[in-house]
Amino acid sequence: MASSLWILLVGVLFMVSGTMGVPPRKPVAVPFGRNYVPTWAFDHIKYYNGGSNIELHLDKYTGTGFQSKGSYLFGHFSMQIKMVPGDSAGTVTAFYLSSLNSEHDEIDFEFLGNRTGQPYILQTNVFTGGKGDREQRIYLWFDPTKDYHSYSVLWNLYQIVFFVDDVPIRVFKNCKDLGVRFPFNHPMKIYSSLWNADDWATRGGLEKTDWSKAPFVAAYKGFHVDGCESSVEAKFCATRGKRWWDQKEFQDLDSYQWRRLAWVRSKYTIYNYCNDRSRYPTMPPECRRDRDV
Ligand SMILES: *[C@@H]1O[C@H](CO)[C@@H](O)[C@H](O)[C@H]1NC(C)=O
Repeated sequence: MASSLWILLVGVLFMVSGTMGVPPRKPVAVPFGRNYVPTWAFDHIKYYNGGSNIELHLDKYTGTGFQSKGSYLFGHFSMQIKMVPGDSAGTVTAFYLSSLNSEHDEIDFEFLGNRTGQPYILQTNVFTGGKGDREQRIYLWFDPTKDYHSYSVLWNLYQIVFFVDDVPIRVFKNCKDLGVRFPFNHPMKIYSSLWNADDWATRGGLEKTDWSKAPFVAAYKGFHVDGCESSVEAKFCATRGKRWWDQKEFQDLDSYQWRRLAWVRSKYTIYNYCNDRSRYPTMPPECRRDRDV
């Protein structure tokens, strides 16, 4: 009796985990200074808890930003951010990976602020070989100014996945066979910054930054980086194919993750270049592969 109950229990657990999806490895919360250095306006970055938490401050004189010490080819990169609360219209908080060479690769999260009580927009983009124009825009299903949420990128030779907490909000599959360049040979650094972009950010630039509300403050923690570190000149990662993010379960989304992505697309998407026929009369090739059909 006991043993058959046990088998039933194990069976149920197995079924549950079988539908759960495989999120990337749990990020380890590490202090800012382990992986990052300020890029500009050093005095506008404030440190707390021995550097486990930081704040970026934007005022009418300047914004600020930071970057990773290392350059990476593939891996999993995440950050926990609490966006600028209250009236954040005109401000943009960005978290991105970029190779910064002439034909650069870039993976972007941009959080566009808004008037008090109005929703943020999360804009994402992917540049490969210097070509971008792949914007997607969504609303979030929570208020990103109330708590820390994790924003992360999984990048391997098969796909780039954007996660908000454990939810995939975007996937860019390797479509080299369809003639689309995929980032694979230019190491990227990780960047984050807070700046004024009231010429375009909020309602297309109609809402201006209200400087009487400055400073605008974005809070960060959990500076997790798990990537193949390489010099900027390196063309490949020596351990490629052997790291956890290269393994089978991270080469594609599973059915649970595809369903979550479909949920984000149907309920929260404002704009997706894949569906913009005035801009792209035929669907860009990578868009055909970014869905589960
Ligand atoms: C700001 O709020 C307005 C009104 O609700 C909305 O149309 C817009 O999409 C929101 N976000 C941004 C970044 O403009």
